[in-house]
Amino acid sequence: MNLSVSRVNRSKEAARASYNRLSGWYDFVAGSTEKKYRDRGLEALSAQPGEKILEIGFGTGHCLVSLARSVGAQGRVTGVDLSDGMLAIARERLQKEGLSDRVDLRLGDAANLDFIEAGTLDGVFMSFTLELFDNPEIPRVLAECYRILKPGGRLAVVSMTKNDPPGIPVRIYEWFHEAMPNYADCRPIFARQSMEESGFKIESADASMMWGLPVQVVLGAKP
Ligand SMILES: C[S@@+](CC[C@H](N)C(=O)[O-])C[C@H]1O[C@@H](n2cnc3c(N)ncnc32)[C@H](O)[C@@H]1O
Repeated sequence: MNLSVSRVNRSKEAARASYNRLSGWYDFVAGSTEKKYRDRGLEALSAQPGEKILEIGFGTGHCLVSLARSVGAQGRVTGVDLSDGMLAIARERLQKEGLSDRVDLRLGDAANLDFIEAGTLDGVFMSFTLELFDNPEIPRVLAECYRILKPGGRLAVVSMTKNDPPGIPVRIYEWFHEAMPNYADCRPIFARQSMEESGFKIESADASMMWGLPVQVVLGAKP
């Protein structure tokens, strides 16, 4: 594939500040549009009772709630997010749902998951988050996911992607990403290819469109 992936030019501090500002509005701005794709990712991951699951970039916490219900009282969900504003909203949601006791929330940059032991998790979930990492970081994040999963563990990624040749909506979106990274911070990536290059065996990859922009739901397994 010869298509390039745009670089990420803002710092982690700027990303954190941007998501803190957005946290109170996130569900209003993106919630209903993105829900159907998040749900497809959760369906692909298919978390089971008793499993241990990590969500990277949990945002306002909707998927944490679904994951916590799926793993049940014997399971465990960990979430890591860069934004303390998002973390506060997710924490409140989990409390309201009575699920706080089975979810650990952590503030931090998921490029470094060294607080999780190797080979201990059944699943990792990421929705509209892998595309926020700069190109050299994507393989590092995926290598961390690989490291912490048990053999046979699954990684489900929901992300924007692009076709060859990219359509006009993607070209316009990428222009916005370059010009206004705080307003269009996700950018199309090639999750399936990156996961394969990181050693995952692809179990399924579904593509659909969101406002003319292709979205991929990819499920990989650690052999
Ligand atoms: C586009 S939002 C998606 C939120 C949620 N996954 C969803 O689908 O509704 C991206 C989330 O990733 C978080 N994030 C961004 N960079 C991160 C990083 N380096 N490490 C951990 N989380 C990050 C943001 O704070 C934000 O909550």
